[in-house]
Amino acid sequence: MKKTLITVLRNRNTSVEQYRIAADQLATVLAIECDALFQKTTFDVDTPITRTQGVGYKQKPVLVPILRSGLVLLPPFMRFHPAAAIGFIGTRRDEKTAIPELYYSKLPPFNHDNPILLLDPMIATGGSAALAIKILKSAGAIEKQITLISFIGSREGIARLQKECPDLGLVVAQVDEGLNDQKWIVPGLGDFGDRYFGTL
Ligand code: URA
Repeated sequence: MKKTLITVLRNRNTSVEQYRIAADQLATVLAIECDALFQKTTFDVDTPITRTQGVGYKQKPVLVPILRSGLVLLPPFMRFHPAAAIGFIGTRRDEKTAIPELYYSKLPPFNHDNPILLLDPMIATGGSAALAIKILKSAGAIEKQITLISFIGSREGIARLQKECPDLGLVVAQVDEGLNDQKWIVPGLGDFGDRYFGTL
């Protein structure tokens, strides 16, 4: 299913409507897959008939989309974790140098037991994610509590993150060959945010 949805996103002829449907579906698939990341606890639950054993989450996650494309991943994660705390990190990359800079950060309080899910559909150079991880760490997070959730990552960007952040968790639907001279992912899908939000 992930491959068919990525194919719809890759296709330059996909309409905005089809693009949004496929992106929302892929985000939901990843939100379900990420369930394995969360520690569970068992407890007794009373049904209308009898008492039985139930399962619940041990800790509340913290969801942190990287603006603006990360917002697309937020709704399904919020739906499955309605009590999650939510923070935002805004980075933009200089179109010439592709070096990211921070323009916004608003994080909720968290402790080391909260899994932090950093949401960004595209990992190109890995620069924005590395900057966001730095911001989370300066707010008190430790690397091993952070998992980056993404649709497509370039080999180069993933290798960089694995080297710079060896304890970071990574959930990536598709690994792509590389980057072109302008640091776009190849084969990629173009500008994810522009295609999703219709700002091409
Ligand atoms: N961001 C995108 O949306 N696409 C890329 O190829 C790289 C970064």
